[in-house]
Amino acid sequence: MYANSRIPTSAQTGIHERLPALLARHTATAFRKPYTGYNLAAFEASLARRERLAPKAPLIVDACCGAGESSIALARAFPEHYIIGVDQSGPRLARGKQNELPPNLDLVRADLADYWRLLRDAGIRLDRHYLLYPNPWPKIGHLIRRWHGHPVFPTVLELGGVIECRSNWRVYVEEFCFAVRYVTQREARCKPYVPDVALTPFERKYLDSGHALFRAEVDLT
Ligand SMILES: C[S@@+](CC[C@H](N)C(=O)[O-])C[C@H]1O[C@@H](n2cnc3c(N)ncnc32)[C@H](O)[C@@H]1O
Repeated sequence: MYANSRIPTSAQTGIHERLPALLARHTATAFRKPYTGYNLAAFEASLARRERLAPKAPLIVDACCGAGESSIALARAFPEHYIIGVDQSGPRLARGKQNELPPNLDLVRADLADYWRLLRDAGIRLDRHYLLYPNPWPKIGHLIRRWHGHPVFPTVLELGGVIECRSNWRVYVEEFCFAVRYVTQREARCKPYVPDVALTPFERKYLDSGHALFRAEVDLT
């Protein structure tokens, strides 16, 4: 059955009580896990393609892009930008690459925990940044697997630009906003969201299953 997706259920109904302590640790201590060779190679190849195709174009990263449906839509909506969709799943990206891709789009297979830091190390800043329906990891013990609970999160915000996060789990977006406020002291609010047209396959599946959707957009420039 297609439109029978379940809303994430969790014993956690508000912001995780350990999130402030985790953010304190992650902002005080640099995340120094060594880069893996395959992420480094994927990053360097994607940087070379960008240098060749659009060295001056403002950059959009579609993080956790899956098969890249949202990346394709963004590339069409922002023709003057260069879009990099990043996902760790080879099969999903291979599915996406069966489409005819716009010339201002690159789909890259990499682990974002490395790719984001490599962008930061290269001094690259983003114009826009999308985090659409990341895995919610709703179990209480899974806080560190959510991106705002991961040690890479301060780096994600350092990349700047307008960052947008969407989820069908309200708590995820509320925690994302809490973490943005904690790290940057900028205003960030979780709001209910009803798109005119689904931007991603997960968004479409959740809408068709009758879920409420939540979104935050924060200007980090
Ligand atoms: C729930 S899917 C959402 C996909 C797409 N954004 C959508 O809305 O249809 C989450 C995606 O995050 C990707 N992902 C999870 N952890 C990742 C990581 N560390 N680095 C890169 N991609 C990751 C998964 O492979 C998966 O495609």
